[in-house]
Formats: sequence, structure tokens, C-alpha cells
Amino acid sequence: MRDAEAHGWANPSSVHRAGRESRALLERARADIAGALGGDASDVVLTAGGTEACNLGVLGLLQLNPGRVVTTAVEHPAMGAPLALAERSLGCPVTRLPVPGGRPPEASELRAALTPDTRLVAIQWINHETGTCFPVGDYARVCRDAGVPLLVDANQALGKLPIDVRALDVAALACSAHKLGGPAGAGALWVRRGLDLDPRMLGGGQERGRRAGTPNVVASVGFGAACQHVARRIADMPRITTLRDRMEDGLRALGATRNAPDGPRVATVSNVYVSGWRGEALVAALDLEGLCVSSGAACSSGLAEPSPVLLAMHADEPARAASSLRFSFGPETTESDVDSALTILRRVLSRPAA
Ligand SMILES: Cc1ncc(COP(=O)(O)O)c(C=O)c1O
Repeated sequence: MRDAEAHGWANPSSVHRAGRESRALLERARADIAGALGGDASDVVLTAGGTEACNLGVLGLLQLNPGRVVTTAVEHPAMGAPLALAERSLGCPVTRLPVPGGRPPEASELRAALTPDTRLVAIQWINHETGTCFPVGDYARVCRDAGVPLLVDANQALGKLPIDVRALDVAALACSAHKLGGPAGAGALWVRRGLDLDPRMLGGGQERGRRAGTPNVVASVGFGAACQHVARRIADMPRITTLRDRMEDGLRALGATRNAPDGPRVATVSNVYVSGWRGEALVAALDLEGLCVSSGAACSSGLAEPSPVLLAMHADEPARAASSLRFSFGPETTESDVDSALTILRRVLSRPAA
């Protein structure tokens, strides 16, 4: 990114030499991102983050082809909010499949929810709060058989499990740089060739008319660089799983219970219910001890409201959503970090609950 700051400052649409240098950096980054997704560079639309990629996918597809959308009750707001907008302003009815106990809908449930007026299925690959993996390969087969495009929110998947958009046969897939060590504010929407997409950002015809605005070369270069290391990140997942399990063993001994059901989930997140405590009170107490955790999705943890995802997953047990903590693990996390975190937790949880 430092190199791009020096050599990629010009507008990549300019035809002069400086512009061409920027263009070369941008296109190299696009190729690296496409490589991590198993797709072609020309099908990658660069965006200012995963939220924009999801918005572009939802509204860009529905604007041209309005109708019913099938999704789940536990999507990230980056999908949930544009879907709600489509419901309000495009007249697109939205079917939200339940996720009881955090268990993803089965392919047969998705199939049963598809109606003749369904124009889009929009589902996350990995839940951002519990780390649960949704069977998107099965969903893709159902969608292909029904002739309905599948938009996948892969913001939590890229860098954690292998992605191959061609083998998966999805219509569009959204991802974000900062989930795999790149800069915040860079993302991409891969769109299957031939699928029409209405731009959400209107202006010049950048990104093949799909996203107007001068591209952020430096951020895209950072995203591309992160994508060059995607295989190494994925290879580190077994080590991170061991750390996460060590943490969960320690948490269980302290009386906490897991919010994710058994079944496929990624190693990088652990979400637990700490009965009797308010999530925010624990977050504050742990922060004072130097342990940074969250009580919901990071983007909404400034709001003192229980996590809507956990509320939807555990509707019969609303106390869970108000009394949960989410721990994150990454390439930098070590065994001694886990042990220090458990020592702090032991100390804080021995106090009277708040
Ligand atoms: C599942 C999911 N979708 C979308 C997003 C939004 O991505 P960004 O933060 O790059 O806008 C996130 C980020 O937390 C996410 O976890």
C-alpha cells in the first residue's frame, strides 16, 4: 500500500502515464482478488467495503428484476437493511427463513420457500456472530435447479475457507478486505458474467458501468495483497481451532455456554452465554482489564441493545442475547493470549454479577 501511495496516486481512468501506472496497480489488485475467489478479474466490481458490495448485490439485482427474495432471519445488516429497503420501496416481499437454535436452514427448507415469484436468494455463508457455516453449496444447487440467482454474503468466509465461485455456481458473492488483514473500506462484489446489475453509485462509468466513482487504488492494492496470502491464512485455521477450543473449555469451566450449535463453524469466533451478567457490563469490565471483546456484532456494539442475531436464533430464551460475549481469534492470537484472557475472565466473573 505504501508503494501504491507513491505510484498509484493518479486517477486510473486517466490516459497519461501516471494514470496508466495507477491502472496497472488497480488491475493487478483486481486479479489477486479474483484469484482468491476462483473467478475472472473482469467479473470483480471493486467497492468501498463489504457493506457496499452486499447493497450493490441486493439492490443492483432486484432493481432490474423485482420480486420475492428469500433470505434468513440472521443476516448481517449489510444484507438485511437493503433487503428491508427493497421490501419497502421496490415492493419485493421478503421471506426470512428461521434459524432456530442457530441451526442454518437445510436446502430442503430453502427449496420449499421458493415460489414462482422468487427473483433472488440472498444468504450469508458464515454467520458473523456465531461463526456457523451455512451450506451454500447445497443452496446453490437448489437455486440453480429453480433458476433463481443466489447472492452470497461471503464477508466472513474469505480468508477462512476456500472459495471457488465457479465450482460453487453462485450468481454473485460479496467480500471485504478487512476480514483477512486488508484495510477497512475496501471490498468487492463478484458477479457471474452475463448477469445484469444496476449500479447503485451513479456517475461516471467506472467499474464497467457497475460502480461509479474514482476507484481507491491504495485500498484495493491492500485488498489484493491480503488476497495473495489467503491460502496461508486458511492453512492456519487448524491452529486457531485449537486455540478457540482451549478458550471454550476454559469458558465452560466458568459456567458459560456456547451460542453456536454443533456443526460446521469457523475457528475465528466464539460466542458464549454468561448467565446472570449483562453483556455490556462484562465488555466494560473486561476492557478495563485489557481484554477487548464484544457483546454483539462489532458494528452495532455501540448500541446498548441485545444482538438481533442471537434474539432470532434463541427466540425462546431472550436472556441469552442480553448476556452474551463474542471472542475473536486470528493469525496473531497465541496460546498465552488465550490463557491470559481466561485469567482475566476468572477474576472478573468471580465478582458479583452486573
Ligand atoms: C457477514 C458480514 N457481512 C457484511 C459485513 C460488512 O462488511 P464491511 O465491514 O466491510 O462493510 C460484515 C462485517 O462485519 C459481515 O461480518
